[in-house]
Parts: sequence; structure tokens; C-alpha cells
Amino acid sequence: MDILTSPGAMRAWAREQIVLGEKIALVPTMGFFHEGHLRLMRMATRHADAVVVSLFVNPIQFGPGEDLDRYPRDFAKDCELAAGEGVAVLFAPEAADMYPAGFQTTVSVEHLSRSLCGADRPGHFNGVTTVVSKLFHIVQPAYAVFGQKDFQQLAIIRRMVQDLDMGVEILAHPIVREPDGLAMSSRNAYLDADQRQSALSLSTGIALARSLFTEGERETAVLRKKVREHILSYSGTAVDYVSFIDCSSLEPVDRVGQEILLALAVTIDGRVRLIDNGLLTGDE
Ligand code: PAJ
Repeated sequence: MDILTSPGAMRAWAREQIVLGEKIALVPTMGFFHEGHLRLMRMATRHADAVVVSLFVNPIQFGPGEDLDRYPRDFAKDCELAAGEGVAVLFAPEAADMYPAGFQTTVSVEHLSRSLCGADRPGHFNGVTTVVSKLFHIVQPAYAVFGQKDFQQLAIIRRMVQDLDMGVEILAHPIVREPDGLAMSSRNAYLDADQRQSALSLSTGIALARSLFTEGERETAVLRKKVREHILSYSGTAVDYVSFIDCSSLEPVDRVGQEILLALAVTIDGRVRLIDNGLLTGDE
């Protein structure tokens, strides 16, 4: 596996592959790999001739007071794990090379970026779409793989690719979970044993909504109240949102029909913000 840090070298490598007729799949990440990231890499391998994984803790998608400085990092282990998945290039640029002095261009997907996590984290999705646009220009992939855990990010990127004619096929990978149901996340590394228990309130909250749905409950106001109470019954939890939304528009719905997603964001002990989601029908 090659490790490249310069955007110029990365672009040159990608051009060579493309001239040879090879299709590249990109997996954008912020590192500290867990099984979820590795599954995305495996999905990329199934679709393309060469897989590029980007590892960049993107400063512009973190707000003031967020966890940029303490975001978990283990570059040596990440290199080993990516190499084990047959990744061709790990692209790990420096912030100064991605955002040199004078940088002033932002890519913004207006409407979809405002609700849910966008309301709690102003500017976050502009940071994501800007860096992902840059990565697409540098790596020129035919495919890019994203996880459904960050369903709003996925919807925003699909919109951006369509709106700006980027010609990158977006592949979505289902949520990868720990055996007890907790959605894998690099941020789970922040949790101590008690907080790890409280973190289960998200996946069990989704399971509760599903069982109420199966029993016939369709009013989102009722479902929301019960899920909220369930989450708050765990110690140290604060609910950022419990939202029932249409999968593609991300608009809230009053009554649950098919293809309705329950999206949750919960902060534990005022420190660790976790998200999770699931279709009420349970299909992934
Ligand atoms: P990061 O949190 O490192 O996630 C990288 C990719 O892995 C994202 O597409 C995310 O949805 C996916 N992922 C994370 N946990 C997952 C899980 N449990 N199951 C399935 N997929 C999972 O998301 C980002 O980085 C950044 O915002 C990025 C897109 C790289 C832009 O900076």
C-alpha cells in the first residue's frame, strides 16, 4: 500500500490509473478505523480496480468547542488495517496542504444541511461537502463509499454529486454494529464503562420504536415521546433530536408509513455526542 500525503502526488497517481483504464473507488474517512470503516473498504474493493482511502481529520467540519483536538488518532494501526484490506493508496494529507493560506471556497448544499445534525452543528455539513468535493477532484474516483450511519451526510453528498454533475457513483453501506447493537463509531473510544451502557439507549430506542410500530402505532408524536422517555431513562443522556423523517427529503413526517427513518442524536454526560438511525420497518 502506498501512503501519499501530497494532493499533487495523489492526483498524479489517480491520473495514471485512469489512463490505464482502471476505475478508482474512494472511501473518505477521518481514521481510527473500526470494523465499519473496514467494511466500507471491502465494498469499495468489490466495485473498483483500485481502492483509495483518505484519512483526514477535517478541521473545517468541527465547530468551536467540538472535539477536533481530542479526536482519536492511531496512524500506524490505521495503515496496518487498510493494508490488510488490499487498499492501494492511503491518502493522508496535512491540513496546511488541504487549506493553504488564502483558501476561501465553500461547497454548500443549502436546504438538506440545515436540519437535524446541521441545526445542532452549524457549518458542519459545509465542511463535509467542501472536503469531499476536494477529495473527489484530487482522487477522481468512479465510485465513493459512505456509511448509512451518517444518513444525513449521505443524502447531502448524493445531492451535491447530482447538483454539481460530479459523475461519481455513490455507494451506501449499511450500519455496522457491535454485537450488543451499538453502532460502531470512532467516537465510541471516548466512552467509559457507564457511558458505554448509556450509549445503548440509541439502538434500544430504535428497537422500541420498531416494536411499537409493529404493534400498530403510527403517530410520530406518540412514538417520539416514548423513545425520548426511553433514552432519558439511561444515566447521563440528553436528547439532541428524535426525528421521524422521509428517507430522501429528510423532511419530518406526522404519521409513519413505509420508508420512514427514525434518526437519533444523543449526548452523554455533556461530552460525547452519538448518532444512530434505522428504518421503522427494520429493512436496511
Ligand atoms: P468518519 O466518521 O471517519 O466515517 C467515514 C465513513 O465511515 C463515513 O461514510 C461513515 O458514514 C462511515 N461509518 C462510520 N461508522 C460506521 C458504521 N458503524 N457503519 C457503517 N458506516 C460507518 O464521516 C466522516 O468520517 C467524515 O465526515 C468524512 C466523510 C470523511 C468527511 O470528512
